[in-house]
Amino acid sequence: MLTTKFTELVGCTVPLQQAGMGGVTTPELAAAVTNAGGLGMLGVPMVPAEMVAELLDATMAQTSGPVGVNFLMPFVDHAAVAAAAQKARLVEFFYADPDPALVELAHDGGALACWQVGSADEARAAVDAGCDLVVAQGVEAGGHVRGTVALLPLLDAVLEAVDVPVVAAGGIGTPRAMAGALAAGADGVRVGTRFLATPEADVHAEYVEALFGAGAADTVLTTTFSVMWPDAPHRVLRSCVDAAEAAEGDTVGEMAMGVMRMPLPRFAVPCPTRTTTGHIGAMALYAGQSVGAVEKVQSAAEVVRELADGAERLLSRSARPG
Ligand SMILES: Cc1cc2nc3c(=O)[nH]c(=O)nc-3n(C[C@H](O)[C@H](O)[C@H](O)COP(=O)(O)O)c2cc1C
Repeated sequence: MLTTKFTELVGCTVPLQQAGMGGVTTPELAAAVTNAGGLGMLGVPMVPAEMVAELLDATMAQTSGPVGVNFLMPFVDHAAVAAAAQKARLVEFFYADPDPALVELAHDGGALACWQVGSADEARAAVDAGCDLVVAQGVEAGGHVRGTVALLPLLDAVLEAVDVPVVAAGGIGTPRAMAGALAAGADGVRVGTRFLATPEADVHAEYVEALFGAGAADTVLTTTFSVMWPDAPHRVLRSCVDAAEAAEGDTVGEMAMGVMRMPLPRFAVPCPTRTTTGHIGAMALYAGQSVGAVEKVQSAAEVVRELADGAERLLSRSARPG
């Protein structure tokens, strides 16, 4: 077992955090990751407080281990943070300067507080704001990208800057990449893209199909999908940028919003879930440079085991003398 400051703090057995991906995470995904020994997360942008509590209850009905909740700062709702903190082991924030008031709100409810950062300065600010741990996100990451630096130099700088546990994110989809981040000093890894092709994630089949066969060079950092969230670079498959630019009209399909259905504007932020309809290939197909490791549909538990067991084998081999 790979015991680290992260596993000890959070109370899991594998130093792997599933990214709390807005729109695609489900109680089934978070619970499966936690049951496999990692830290399962729910992503809850624009989800009201009562529903955050319900999602956590549904997750905790399927696992007795630690579960986290991720909030995107442009859409953050303090009541939802307070509701999450009452039940979750970890409450986490992304995409704004670290805010001591939100960290305090997480702590008041009894949760650990975490901030995903893109620079060493932001990591220092997160610790100054009271965070118990930070996630260092390199530009290789799928989804919205906070910084401008690749994971390895960023991790180096963040580890120098702070004393709290540091989780490495961005482009980690194989045992070798996980072992590399841990060998470089990370206390855990955060994995997003690898979980998109699991049956537990709420991802449209055409999105999953587009991930198969794509490699790191087929992803691009762009600001194309900015409707609802401007000026926020994100990494997607290049094919969806081309398709969205070639599409005609103001909308590309329809998405579910609770019990309602809403038109999905062209260049909008939400990625296609199972209930999204329309021109799926022209929607935001987020993917990190780890996408080459997405080769087939696999259960979330299999993904955790493959990465953790493989990384452990690699690290024990490199630790052997001679
Ligand atoms: C589909 C998708 C949605 C994401 N949504 C969020 C989110 O809601 N909040 C967040 O903090 N990060 C989000 N991220 C970024 C992840 O936290 C993480 O940095 C990234 O997945 C790591 O890189 P990887 O995808 O190569 O594993 C998302 C990533 C993906 C692929």
